[in-house]
Amino acid sequence: MDSNELRRAFRDFFVERGHTPVPSASLIPFDRTVLFTVAGMVPFKRYFLGEEPAPYPRATSIQKCMRAGGKHNDLDQIGQTLRHLTFFEMLGNFSFGDYFKEQAIPYAWELVTNVLGLEPDRLWVTVHTSDDEAAAIWRDAIGVDPARIQRLEEDNWWQMGDTGPCGPCSEIYYDKGSEYGADGGPAYGSDERFLEIWNLVFMQFDQQSDGDLVPLPKPCIDTGAGLERIVPILQGRPSVFETDLVYPILQEAESLTGRTYGVEHRQDVGLRIIADHSRAMTFLLADGVVPTNEGRGYVLRRIIRRLVLRSQLLGARHEVVERLVNGVIATMGEAYPELIDRRERILELGIREEARFEQTLTIGAPILETAITSGKVTGDVAFRLHDTFGVPIELTTEIAADRGVDVDLDGFHNAMAQQRHRSRQAGLGDEATSEQATGALWVLETLGKTEFLGYEVEEAVGEIQFVEQEPAGLALYLDRTPFYPEGGGQVGDTGWISAEGFRAKVVNTDQPVQGVVRHWIEVVEGEPVVGTSLELVVDRGRRARIRANHTATHLLQWALREVLGEHVAQQGSLVAPERLRFDFTHWSALTVEEIERVEQLIMEQVVTAATVVTEIKDKEAAVNEGAIAFFGDQYQDVVRVVHAGTHSVELCGGTHVGSLGEIGLFKVVSEGSIGANTRRIEAVTQLAALDAVHRLERQLDTIEKILPGGREALAERVENLAMRHRELETQLATMRQEELRSLVRNIWAQHPSRALIERLDGLSAQELRFVALELRNRTEAEVVVLASVLDAKVALVATVADPTVLNASEVLAPLAQAVGGRVGPQRELALSGGRQVDQLDQALEELRKGFDSQR
Ligand code: ALA
Repeated sequence: MDSNELRRAFRDFFVERGHTPVPSASLIPFDRTVLFTVAGMVPFKRYFLGEEPAPYPRATSIQKCMRAGGKHNDLDQIGQTLRHLTFFEMLGNFSFGDYFKEQAIPYAWELVTNVLGLEPDRLWVTVHTSDDEAAAIWRDAIGVDPARIQRLEEDNWWQMGDTGPCGPCSEIYYDKGSEYGADGGPAYGSDERFLEIWNLVFMQFDQQSDGDLVPLPKPCIDTGAGLERIVPILQGRPSVFETDLVYPILQEAESLTGRTYGVEHRQDVGLRIIADHSRAMTFLLADGVVPTNEGRGYVLRRIIRRLVLRSQLLGARHEVVERLVNGVIATMGEAYPELIDRRERILELGIREEARFEQTLTIGAPILETAITSGKVTGDVAFRLHDTFGVPIELTTEIAADRGVDVDLDGFHNAMAQQRHRSRQAGLGDEATSEQATGALWVLETLGKTEFLGYEVEEAVGEIQFVEQEPAGLALYLDRTPFYPEGGGQVGDTGWISAEGFRAKVVNTDQPVQGVVRHWIEVVEGEPVVGTSLELVVDRGRRARIRANHTATHLLQWALREVLGEHVAQQGSLVAPERLRFDFTHWSALTVEEIERVEQLIMEQVVTAATVVTEIKDKEAAVNEGAIAFFGDQYQDVVRVVHAGTHSVELCGGTHVGSLGEIGLFKVVSEGSIGANTRRIEAVTQLAALDAVHRLERQLDTIEKILPGGREALAERVENLAMRHRELETQLATMRQEELRSLVRNIWAQHPSRALIERLDGLSAQELRFVALELRNRTEAEVVVLASVLDAKVALVATVADPTVLNASEVLAPLAQAVGGRVGPQRELALSGGRQVDQLDQALEELRKGFDSQR
């Protein structure tokens, strides 16, 4: 029986017994608790937990699985044993609350002995120490010799991850024979001799993170049989590496390295690693994992680099990835046509990673070599190799171990911790690794630029190529996109993206690296998965407003040069949906006439509704033909030239209207200075311009209600009103002066004195000063000191007739100090004030006493 026949036999067996055949899910699970799909049950997790009703009571699948990283991690065993593979296919049958142990055990036995024809004499079973029920079924219903039924504790308890569905399990083992090791059954004998081929999990609990086991709504069955482990038994081969599934790839590795399998142990380990990793690499790349420095991308990177390194250590002279990938596709493509469909992408990503690693090795290898020669690889060296040169720590350890040298792992982890500390101090948080900051750069190097479709369409289909969890949110990179990334003053597009079971809002789009579009998303439903094809829909209304504002900005630049002169040069711009902003060089405020003329020129172009023409051409030719290049923009040799109307020609990557008519109405809403010789104009178009006009209308309306009598003569009425207001103010001032003069006369009539010291509340500081000067000039007083309290504040003034005899500021100083104020050095007229009103009277009294005593 070859592997294809086995797949078919298994499937048919369970379909005949009422199981719905379900195709394999991706290696990238929807469930976040595991790094990879580690078992056939992973895609059904929600059915086991009762979070979603199962669409069928029974199912069967042949699931692609990956066990590298996380709870189920076989990476370090690969090559060392005859039975481990990181990537493998799991044959499974599942019951979602339908049948349980009494049925699952006989199904397994029947298939193994009848359909596959394994001799019952070679089979052993294990059950969980607590599971008398399963033991009884094996013994009584099946008739297995009780001596061949063993009980295990941990080994017979299965759980998906650190949390999730779990339960006791029962396993079937195949005895390969005494040449593979010690007897004693699976519990006591050799692991290589007693090979686990089938696992029946009696799912009963949901493991919580706090250690609690919560019973499932209904007990379920999850079984898993390793396809790659059964095939060697059927084909009489000693290991998983020598069957029709893996051997052709191992042969490819032999040919690349010039080594022969089965001659020398260490060499065999290397060849097995290459064969295993080739399969893992090909399937991971096919399912959309890309090599990165973290998570599953890091596992893939390690796998590819390990494979390349092993090949070189065994003597490979040239690149190996291409041939190995093609080998895997030739072997597995029939069962997994997606490998054939995605060959190009798999090869491209794999080959690039190989090339990157080659570069890394060129620099990293001598550093490591020096360390190894010195007899010790320090933590710092290991960290530098990891951080700067991308040599995974596991590789460093492996190479050093090969040469009998230790790596200071504590030192390495210390250095890692210090780096985390540094990035936290830099405010980057734990998540902000250097890889994330350069995610877009990586996308550019590995996948190339994003194909931008936004000039032609606002809706398209594109594939997710990379998902990046940034501290600022979730970002997607796609192979193609209609979303315009912020640039050239134009804001980024927003909109929607969706696929079956996935929907998200695009809240912004930018371009961290030229040519690579980053979509910032907020997920509404589901999860973004690399490789998924998405419907991409730009917010059309918003885009239309942005477009109108962008083309209008070009017309504005042209019109300003027409009206103000050729010195007008763009200093910056913002093209948003609600308005446009244009900063330019010019030395004075624009007059109303100039602004009107600019608007007029623009509208003359708009009403022609001329088609806006864009062309792609050589930069030099474009500039020679008079195209204006936006200030500060970086242009490639080939540029996009935008012709808007009869005059405006600019180099621009933005999105523009098809016809100038779409601009509708152009209206300047503000003009001002933002620095020396730099002006800023803000303007609106389309309905926003109509809005602006409406706002003006409403303001006029309000004024008209206050001054009724028709729109025509409104300005005249406002002018008359202003004039009348000025007249009244003058009259009022004259009357007030008169009033103050009579106050002066009264004061002198009542207390004629050479030192006039008075408190006159209710007068402003200015009025107080007027009264003081009047008193000094029109009476015989030699010194005048006045105070006034107004709005809880004291105003003070002192003035003297002859500043050579008396100094006004010295006179006022004690008063000023009393009310909490200061006084300047003026000798003739000194002013002050303060807030300590309650100190005023006493201070005035003391001043009077002072003058009295001088007489
Ligand atoms: N989920 C079980 C396993 O992976 C069947 O062994």
